[in-house]
Amino acid sequence: MKFTLIALGVLVMIAGAGSSVAAQGPDGKTIYVANCLKCHGATGVPLRETKEQFPKVATFADAKFVAVHSVDSIVKVLTHGKGEDMKSFKLKLSHEEMVAVANYVRGFGLKEHP
Ligand code: HEC
Repeated sequence: MKFTLIALGVLVMIAGAGSSVAAQGPDGKTIYVANCLKCHGATGVPLRETKEQFPKVATFADAKFVAVHSVDSIVKVLTHGKGEDMKSFKLKLSHEEMVAVANYVRGFGLKEHP
């Protein structure tokens, strides 16, 4: 079963010719919606209420965020947490899931949002 899944994954990757990151593993968007959206916002901009509650909450839809935060540094924050309100996701997400969501989060600052 596991082998079938891996074989399927490889096929999808070949078919996609690297155009889709999502085909390679856990889906960053799904992980984000389930775990991060309520504080960091659907487009990477926290809601005003969240900012009032957590003044330091990060805004992802910002070229500066992308410039300063590598995937590795985001994975570190997810592993260890930051400050009082950004909790560690060590027990909730696997390393692969953290990498996927880190890539997704960086995407907010890389692409134009309508
Ligand atoms: C309970 C609200 C909450 C949730 C849920 C949450 N965060 Fe945060 N996040 C925060 C706050 C508050 C900060 C600012 C922490 C600080 O600097 O003290 C933050 C900061 C960050 C930072 C920036 C750290 C830095 O170095 O500037 C990243 C990256 C981040 N969060 C990613 C995520 C991801 C990815 C998820 C989902 C897996 C998530 N957060 C879920 C509240 C939240």
